[in-house]
Amino acid sequence: MKKLSALAALIAAMTSCADKTPMDTFVGDLMGKMTVEEKIGQLNLLPGGDITTGAVMNSPLMQLASEGKLGAILNVKGQDKVLALQKAAVEKTRLGIPLLIGQDVIHGNQTVFPIPLAQSCSWDIEAIGQAARISAKEATAQGINWVYSPMVDISVDPRWGRVAEGSGEDPFLGCAIAKAVVEGYQGDYGDQNAMACVKHFALYGASEAGRDYNTVDMSRVRMFNQYMQPYKAAADAGAGSFMSSFNVIDGVPATCNEWLLTTILRDKWGYDGFLVTDYGSIREAVVHGIGDIAATSERALKAGTDMDMCSDAFINNLKSLLEAGRISMADIDRACRRVLEAKYKLGLFDNPYRFCQPERLKTDLYTDAHRQAARSLAAESFVLLKNQGDVLPLKKSGTIALIGPLADNRSNMVGCWSTGDTPELYSTLRESMARALEGKAQLLYAQGSNIYADAATQQWASFGRPIDRVDDAKAKNEALKIAKQADVVVCAMGEMAEMSGESSSRSDLAMPAPQLELLKEIVALGKPVVLLNFSGRPTIMNWEVENVDALMNVWFGGSETADAICDVIFGDVAPSGHLTMTIPQSVGQIPVYYNHLNTGRPVDEGSTQYIKYSSNYIDVRNEPLFPFGFGLTYTSFAYSDIKVTTTPNSPTLLTVSATVKNTGSRACTDVAQFYIHDMAASIARPVKELKGFERLTLAPGESREVSFPVSRELLSFYDAEGNMVFEPGEFTFMIGSNSRDVLSLQTTVE
Ligand code: BGC
Repeated sequence: MKKLSALAALIAAMTSCADKTPMDTFVGDLMGKMTVEEKIGQLNLLPGGDITTGAVMNSPLMQLASEGKLGAILNVKGQDKVLALQKAAVEKTRLGIPLLIGQDVIHGNQTVFPIPLAQSCSWDIEAIGQAARISAKEATAQGINWVYSPMVDISVDPRWGRVAEGSGEDPFLGCAIAKAVVEGYQGDYGDQNAMACVKHFALYGASEAGRDYNTVDMSRVRMFNQYMQPYKAAADAGAGSFMSSFNVIDGVPATCNEWLLTTILRDKWGYDGFLVTDYGSIREAVVHGIGDIAATSERALKAGTDMDMCSDAFINNLKSLLEAGRISMADIDRACRRVLEAKYKLGLFDNPYRFCQPERLKTDLYTDAHRQAARSLAAESFVLLKNQGDVLPLKKSGTIALIGPLADNRSNMVGCWSTGDTPELYSTLRESMARALEGKAQLLYAQGSNIYADAATQQWASFGRPIDRVDDAKAKNEALKIAKQADVVVCAMGEMAEMSGESSSRSDLAMPAPQLELLKEIVALGKPVVLLNFSGRPTIMNWEVENVDALMNVWFGGSETADAICDVIFGDVAPSGHLTMTIPQSVGQIPVYYNHLNTGRPVDEGSTQYIKYSSNYIDVRNEPLFPFGFGLTYTSFAYSDIKVTTTPNSPTLLTVSATVKNTGSRACTDVAQFYIHDMAASIARPVKELKGFERLTLAPGESREVSFPVSRELLSFYDAEGNMVFEPGEFTFMIGSNSRDVLSLQTTVE
């Protein structure tokens, strides 16, 4: 018996030796030479302070890097600074281990792409992947090798400012985007690729009341079916790292939550990248109330956290915790190994200065090709919500008045989290329109109003990019004067960049008062009015929708926003964006989202009346202002002939298809969307769930069939343990151009 187990152990050792990759061998050898202090140093991540995203720390980075007390740095701007720190780590320490250089590259670098929420409205997965590739190329040219993106937090609450950074409310679309972005950044870890960091694990988008950093509490079924899927898709796509979130899950801060970080991420999903905390979150776990800093350091490490971002917790506590027997050497080794593996994957041990090539600063930033990609994605991200009397596209003739506090502003166009932007290179809308109209039409301009009322009380604005304050009455008069002279008025209004993003939650989602007042007076003049609504989130626009002639949500479109807007409003490009977050009628409806459960007392979709003892409000109907998936263009599309076909002997259970026809007079692109509803299952299932989509461009009069294959996996859902379940039975399948207006059929799936 003894002999047998010795033999088994020998075979196991030989097999594991044979299974060892060159990375395992390299990292194993390196760790064999490291002291405990050196290992703990690898787990420490501190900020450079060039971009501030939390408490200012003023850490002596150069000294710490030279002493081997740093594994990584974040938000240091400039290749020269990065190089100096990398040299300190490589040349001044005993083992010369290079640093990871992290940054919040969220939607581009010097070339800025639309905010992620806007990108998702393009439903153009290829273009979104390309944006990530370009972002990584520009970031790596500046010395960055680790990007804190994609942010894949599902959210159904537009009060939460960070919806700007995500892909909206839908898990299916969220998964497709998560995969494309991870693959876009990382590629095959070549010289122009950076490591992705998927965030914020997990459920951060469900912060109560949309208030940032707030409590999260939800059922496991909702968690697995609605919120967890994009994280899993990103893990499956091979994301090199994950960032834990600030919120609690089951009362335990994510950073210290063993169930989340180990049971689910590691054991269930088999994730083997490394896990970093969010900014200061081991310290914040003390404030949450689960123990002192030694206790939260212990819990974070044991839960599965590998690197401490900006808490100074691991560096100051792990050694004494080890000596006290509260953590083991194996805990430290596990974390250290994962961090070293990340550096290995990035090729930093072969060449620590791989991403510090000075010539790339001249060739790889803000190139014509990058700008073109950003411009085209921006144009695809705009969502046309109303176009009465075909006021859009505008003719390049006559007199056009451009009015609004965002019309001649350079720095707010890019939106939140534009850490590598260079606004002086970008055009304002006024400049782009002047170029587009030169020699053809007259352009008049007036700012018209302040962006928000009462500057003295708006403390948040001091963190933003200022827009000149004006005397409201005087500015309004100037605006009305030019509006009267114009054939059409284009209003550039909405939020400024700082009104969305981190720590920018709003309880009131209406257009700020001075702008709405101005808009009302402009509309009263009776001229055709086009409203371009800038926003980092769905905003409430009931009056606007009723009263302007055309309304297009342009979000924050990045460095090329202005030219992209001109492309669309003058008709060189037809709009093709579709909403990825529902737009509510009132804040009181939130959360309002398309893939909700039915309740036992539903009211019919579209019901115009209050119904007693049914699930509705006395003062507003259940319908949103615009449903998920909605978006108009310069033509109309008709959907017909939905049908199901089965192909014998195929892994696909069946295929659902429909015919889409362009019934208008110009070639345009629609996003055909495929939804399912599981009519009876062991748990209640959403009334609709997106399960497929296709962007298709059709010439006038042209028809095409769109087909969506249906597999068992596609019809499955998660149980409370996070296992996928397939339950045959009755399903409704739906196809349409948004989540409300669909053709549907019902069939039994066996
Ligand atoms: C944010 C993260 C970001 C980090 C580093 C935090 O405040 O939540 O999304 O990556 O700062 O800047």
